[in-house]
Amino acid sequence: MSLKQYHMLLAYFILLFLAVNLTGCRPRVATEPPPVLVPPEPAQAVLFAPGDFQDPAVCGACHTEIYQAWSGSKHASAWVGELFQADFQQALAETDGAVGALCGECHAPVAFRTGQLPPFDGSEFDEISGRGISCDFCHTVTEVTEKFNNLKQEVSRL
Ligand code: HEC
Ligand code: HEC
Ligand code: HEC
Repeated sequence: MSLKQYHMLLAYFILLFLAVNLTGCRPRVATEPPPVLVPPEPAQAVLFAPGDFQDPAVCGACHTEIYQAWSGSKHASAWVGELFQADFQQALAETDGAVGALCGECHAPVAFRTGQLPPFDGSEFDEISGRGISCDFCHTVTEVTEKFNNLKQEVSRL
């Protein structure tokens, strides 16, 4: 046996020992019950009035470079993007509209917070609501209290 083969054999036994040991130590617990989905307090969706947020173009008048970078980003097309709209329409159809607010809260945060969403087809949007994750939206956020938005509530409803 060459030295290399010997080393490989040794490594094999060490790994085998570790594997046996690790699996042997695993406690045998009964399968845990699925987590209970507790609906959160009703979301305070409408905190602002239409027009409370600035159009990104207003910021862009001075912050030219940031505006250009943002304009080409997925943030700017979060709602109008073709990929999003295709996926969103399919999700709406498959859930009878149940995911509308879920997707909309992230993808059209200004519309959601100013009472222009629902309806989920965007027909009540003003120009600023259609501009996705805008400068003013991000720069107005003061706190994030929940991970994954209202997913728990929506999932329990489906
Ligand atoms: C009239 C020109 C002008 C407009 C319009 C404007 N800004 Fe500014 N902004 C400035 C200047 C000047 C500064 C300070 C210098 C700098 O940081 O570039 C600044 C600074 C900032 C800062 C950094 C503040 C800090 O504490 O460091 C942020 C964030 C900001 N602006 C966001 C915005 C947003 C969002 C909008 C649109 C709602 C906007 N600005 C519109 C001129 C403007
Ligand atoms: C918690 C916030 C949040 C929720 C809720 C959410 N999204 Fe998103 N979505 C995002 C983020 C952030 C991205 C960008 C992720 C990335 O680029 O990695 C994204 C990206 C996407 C994209 C890719 C768009 C592109 O042009 O690349 C699609 C499509 C999409 N989401 C559809 C949906 C649909 C449909 C729903 C509802 C069923 C939904 N999203 C709910 C935050 C969210
Ligand atoms: C997705 C959220 C988000 C969006 C959209 C956004 N910002 Fe910001 N912006 C931030 C965060 C977070 C910081 C702080 C970054 C840091 O401290 O490193 C910041 C920093 C800034 C600053 C100060 C720092 C710098 O680089 O000069 C300015 C000015 C600014 N943003 C302007 C804008 C403008 C104008 C737009 C729209 C064209 C915009 N932001 C869009 C989140 C955002």
